[in-house]
Amino acid sequence: MSSDNIHSVLTETRLFAPQPDFVARARLDADGLSALHAAAAADHVGFWAGLARKELGWQTPFTEALDSTQAPNYRWFADGHLNVSANCLDRHLGARGDKIAIRFEGEQGDVATYTYRQLHGEVCKLANALKSLGIGRGDRVVIYMPMVPEAVMAMQACARIGAIHSVVFGGFSASSLRDRIEDAGAKLLITADGGHRAGHIVELKKAADEALAEGCATISKVLVLKRTGHTVNLDPDRDLWWHTLLAEQSDRCDPEWVSAEHPLFLLYTSGSTGKPKGIQHSSGGYLLGATVTCQWVFDLRDDDVFWCTADVGWITGHSYVAYGPLSNGATILMYEGAPTVPDAGRFWKICQDHGVTIFYTAPTAIRALMKLGDEWPVKYDLSKLRLLGSVGEPINPEAWMWYHTAIGKQKLPIVDTWWQTETGSIMISPVPGAVPTKPGSCTKPLPGIAVEVVDENGEAVADANMGGYLVITKPWPSMLRTIWNDNDRYIKTYWSQFQGRCYVAGDSVHRDADGYHWIMGRVDDVLNVSGHRLGTMEVESALVAHPRVAEAAVVGRPHEIKGESVFAFVVCKGLRPSGDEARQLTQELRDWVAKDIGALARPDDIRFAENLPKTRSGKIMRRLLRSIARDEQITQDTSTLENPGIVEQLARKD
Ligand code: PRX
Repeated sequence: MSSDNIHSVLTETRLFAPQPDFVARARLDADGLSALHAAAAADHVGFWAGLARKELGWQTPFTEALDSTQAPNYRWFADGHLNVSANCLDRHLGARGDKIAIRFEGEQGDVATYTYRQLHGEVCKLANALKSLGIGRGDRVVIYMPMVPEAVMAMQACARIGAIHSVVFGGFSASSLRDRIEDAGAKLLITADGGHRAGHIVELKKAADEALAEGCATISKVLVLKRTGHTVNLDPDRDLWWHTLLAEQSDRCDPEWVSAEHPLFLLYTSGSTGKPKGIQHSSGGYLLGATVTCQWVFDLRDDDVFWCTADVGWITGHSYVAYGPLSNGATILMYEGAPTVPDAGRFWKICQDHGVTIFYTAPTAIRALMKLGDEWPVKYDLSKLRLLGSVGEPINPEAWMWYHTAIGKQKLPIVDTWWQTETGSIMISPVPGAVPTKPGSCTKPLPGIAVEVVDENGEAVADANMGGYLVITKPWPSMLRTIWNDNDRYIKTYWSQFQGRCYVAGDSVHRDADGYHWIMGRVDDVLNVSGHRLGTMEVESALVAHPRVAEAAVVGRPHEIKGESVFAFVVCKGLRPSGDEARQLTQELRDWVAKDIGALARPDDIRFAENLPKTRSGKIMRRLLRSIARDEQITQDTSTLENPGIVEQLARKD
């Protein structure tokens, strides 16, 4: 654990108490929160069972809340039956049928709205369309779409018929899409002709065609939404237009009742190997986590307009766009495009124009917008905003203070929410009407979430000045159930480090004397670039697939906007390139990685070397490479290196 990190958080002593007017209207105040914590502490399983009965609609009630017989493959509410789409749509048709469920704005300024009744009708039509293509319970459907309401409809339609969706972020490349389709064994791909992003068309259909050109034998049909209207290739035997197929469908479709343990979705995320893992989530437990955290953390009420800026390709877009808010009958806002189109005021204009009350985004966006200056937010009326949120990476105190001042006008609470693809819903976060905040801390675990900080031996870290591993010691309903097709990897990755006693999150954390948590970063070989996880091995395998590359090692380097950027050390076949050749190859390799994985993996820096620093047993000294990438003084002992002379060459910037 880095003592620098601990030192920096120890110097942050500012404390912001919830404003009295917020507390007065909050769903949960300090007493309410204490009561929930006490109930969870007294009976962990009973606490969650009570919430599951109260917050979700069941077709068949469950009789057993938690089944630990196959631990760590825990099962929650398994003999209960429900349908996630019925919980998100049908149950609101009575009281909220005419309430707006989704307000949408495209990057080019087009606006669309769907009431709960309209959304229900569209989801039913799509669900019937999927059935007409032979898709049913347990079949996998990959969704590769822009950030438009139809992406949420596609997820909800799968849920309605018991199909398992796997959304692939539209910024991922054709080969990343192919790998995910193949691992999931998907029968159907739902995509669009393209999407609008940063003034360009994202060529989704073209990438889909490329992905399907090799392999992907399980895919029989491709459903294509017309979004941009530009010309795309349509294979008459395989591809169908969304609008043509939906025109024939009824807007009624009975939900398929499934066990609470039925998989709702797979979502691929990076780990410390080259192969992304398909995180498998359940139906009942997952929805419960997404539903209650919207109430606790976002204080969600009927008159809110909730805007979570995350793409549906990430877990945040699942839990806080597609499922949690709709399960609560809320109005959500969706925006298709980039935050700076046509200018740096776009996010704030959207907040003004749509009356956004709750705004949830990532530190990377906050830092980028902060850099563009205070003159942008002041142009717009942000007076409807009442709560701000942050997710995806540690938010540095400077960005927190800007968010608080320039957007929150020093009044609005900020919820810094720590969680992961694997946890399904928010785990550690302030409850805005109850918990005072400190800039840069995600504060304390939510009720029913048992977080510990442990040392290498799994012993609780008692000293408030020490960091440790973030672990979760009791199962919780929205936890991942397994890794698709690889339960051994599930056990090894999350449950093997401390004799299976707890879930190991892969983050290091420091808990201060007030019990506040300060996330320090990943302890594995996973980078966090703009709030997105990226395995160093994934980038390394992309690099070594290039004909000129013999060996590569990738590390993270702190970056002002992105949090971390990709820094690659590359050993070429033949002579080490220099001068123009090096410059040309650098560009080629950067594009190569972007094409292979997606633009977010594009290395910012590439440095060529004749060799990599290795121990005598052949292990690459990554810590040393991290120091070199950061231009730090080398303090590590290099005497154990096989090739100590290499350090000087690696540190040279020519
Ligand atoms: O390192 C933590 C960081 O993001 C990782 C999870 O990434 P992912 O599965 O892509 O999900 C991101 C959105 C939930 C964590 O292991 N992280 C997430 N939120 C925070 C954070 N680090 C610090 N503070 C946060 N609020």
